[in-house]
Amino acid sequence: MIKNFLQDAFHRPLRDLRISVIDRCNFRCTYCMPDKEDARHFSFLKPQEWLSFEEIIRLTKLFVAAGVTKIRLTGGEPLLRPNLVELVGKLRAIEGIRDLALTTNGSLLSRYAHDLKDAGLDRITVSLDTLDARFFHQMNGNKGDLKKVLEGIEICEGIGFETIKINVVLQRGVNDHSVMDLVWYFKGRKPVLRFIEYMDVGNCNHWDLRYVVPTRELVDLINEQLPLRPLAAKEFGEVAARYEFVDGSGEVGFISSVTQPFCGTCTRGRISAEGKMYTCLFAGDGVDLRAPLRQGADDAQLSALIQSVWQKRADRYSELRAQIRKHTPHTHKVEMFQIGG
Ligand code: GTP
Ligand code: 5AD
Ligand code: SF4
Ligand code: SF4
Repeated sequence: MIKNFLQDAFHRPLRDLRISVIDRCNFRCTYCMPDKEDARHFSFLKPQEWLSFEEIIRLTKLFVAAGVTKIRLTGGEPLLRPNLVELVGKLRAIEGIRDLALTTNGSLLSRYAHDLKDAGLDRITVSLDTLDARFFHQMNGNKGDLKKVLEGIEICEGIGFETIKINVVLQRGVNDHSVMDLVWYFKGRKPVLRFIEYMDVGNCNHWDLRYVVPTRELVDLINEQLPLRPLAAKEFGEVAARYEFVDGSGEVGFISSVTQPFCGTCTRGRISAEGKMYTCLFAGDGVDLRAPLRQGADDAQLSALIQSVWQKRADRYSELRAQIRKHTPHTHKVEMFQIGG
């Protein structure tokens, strides 16, 4: 297949596609879906509104033809989507996908890890913000079981996933005391920790710059106890700045969308569970791909639509965050659980 190398308005290619398969979640993380906001903000899609597996596969093939080589399944919590393992198997069979990954809160991982691996999933990322059970519950709305999440991670470790990453969203005064616990817990093991600066995604997390722990501060903190040195990026557009422990016991990553934005190399497109294409994590709305799909558009028409959306793309929210927040602080943004991070 001859690939059509698409570029956006800033010459960024389309390389990664993040597919949200469901907007529901069994957690209520305070930075994503604060429980008390439920009634006001959240209405979830009905199953018939989700893209079907056939629709997801059809769109994915068109995205692959447009240059995508990496796929990440997200949610909400993707393991709540019935028969997700079947979708993984179908995606695995698409030629041209060199990397197939999943982001999960880990609560159902011990049940599905083996089947996901057998279906061809390459990599898994688990969100885990603290090892302190009390704070774990405080941060995720009193849901889930920390032990279950840790058990799921251990199972993944044992069955040969290419990479396991642990995403930690840090909030000052909330879980920043957990940093070294996490570092010591995973040091020397297969899962790689990544600390994420808390972001102003969506409309309901009451984000404030004061809650952000800047990567620079965090690197210094860890380095004082366990010396670190920077690693070169493995590939273009890598989100995390990677460091290794000088003693050879592994690496740790830092995702600094607030203090060191990486929009310049952002190659990520996103599809929501209802089939809208988003060109930025902070976008207001997406472009509906489901309507043309269900109205009988052919592949050429759908491809043309995807291409035109990408070609017009000029998003760089994180680079413009301060200005946007100052001048249009109430602009509506898509929620994290709708496009999965
Ligand atoms: P791989 O390189 O495929 O392992 O994934 P990744 O590094 O993109 O990591 P992952 O998908 O786990 O993303 C980690 C976190 O970084 C997400 O949950 C977001 O919080 C943040 N992130 C990922 N992509 C973007 C992006 O395009 N913009 C911003 N601002 N943040 C992002
Ligand atoms: N800021 C930073 N990261 C976030 N995530 C969810 N909400 C936020 C936020 N406001 C992360 C989750 C998960 C991924 C999907 O996105 O922890 O790892
Ligand atoms: Fe938390 Fe992810 Fe669920 Fe949002 S979608 S509430 S970040 S587990
Ligand atoms: Fe990409 Fe938007 Fe994130 Fe910038 S803010 S890196 S453009 S998704």
